[in-house]
Amino acid sequence: MKSSGKKGQVTVIANLKGGSGKSTVTFNLGLWLQMKGQPVVAYDLDPQCTLGDVAEVRREEGYAPPLVVYQDTDRLKDLLRMHPGQVLVDVGAANMVAMKEAIVNADRILIPVPPSQPDVWATQRFIGIVNEAVEKHNGKKGTEPELFAFVNRADTHRAIRESDETEEVLAQLKGIKLIPYRLCQRTIYRRSLSEGLGIFELSRRSKAVEEFSLFAEFLFPDIKIRTKLNS
Ligand SMILES: Nc1ncnc2c1ncn2[C@@H]1O[C@H](COP(=O)(O)OP(=O)(O)OP(=O)(O)O)[C@@H](O)[C@H]1O
Ligand SMILES: [Mg+2]
Repeated sequence: MKSSGKKGQVTVIANLKGGSGKSTVTFNLGLWLQMKGQPVVAYDLDPQCTLGDVAEVRREEGYAPPLVVYQDTDRLKDLLRMHPGQVLVDVGAANMVAMKEAIVNADRILIPVPPSQPDVWATQRFIGIVNEAVEKHNGKKGTEPELFAFVNRADTHRAIRESDETEEVLAQLKGIKLIPYRLCQRTIYRRSLSEGLGIFELSRRSKAVEEFSLFAEFLFPDIKIRTKLNS
């Protein structure tokens, strides 16, 4: 995995199915990275513009720092590569052209998967699309983005087995790495989007914050700067 060095690192958050948590995770990862002192820009390539809207709520409310969200889809390759630090890209199936463009310019792709059979099927199809796009773009020898999948909206009751089963399937899919930290279904994520605040700004200590911290530290292991909120 690349570290957050001088050259930007492009993480695309994508999946085919709607509502898997792409915008929620992108928003919270962006704010988490900024809290750790990392330069971040985000791209919202979805015509729904959820990420752009929530960033706008944050700006209007005057919460600092704002999350910079671009909505340009032209010349993505040049745009994504011009930023230092972390570049997060939120893209869904509503814009397949932008999705493929983002895929072939990604250092890594993060795939949120709710625990259900249709979501697993959609994820398998999505991995097929990634492989096809990368092969078409790079030929067989080209560099490939790393693929990470994780369960989002996991049930909080351990007795319900869907999340375990989804993880078991994801762990067996060729070419992807399963992130061993799932994010549970927690109401704080809905508040996060409606209020324009990160979950760790809404609650200093909660299960959701603990889960999200483990998840984000797994994705960005080189980021060790601690802030008051986390200390
Ligand atoms: N872990 C979670 N717990 C509870 N609610 C969640 C969680 N993740 C996402 N949500 C909620 O689910 C809804 C859909 O999430 P979000 O908009 O992030 O998904 P998306 O993949 O970006 O959807 P779309 O495909 O429409 O762009 C939102 O209301 C969000 O707050
Ligand atoms: Mg979205």
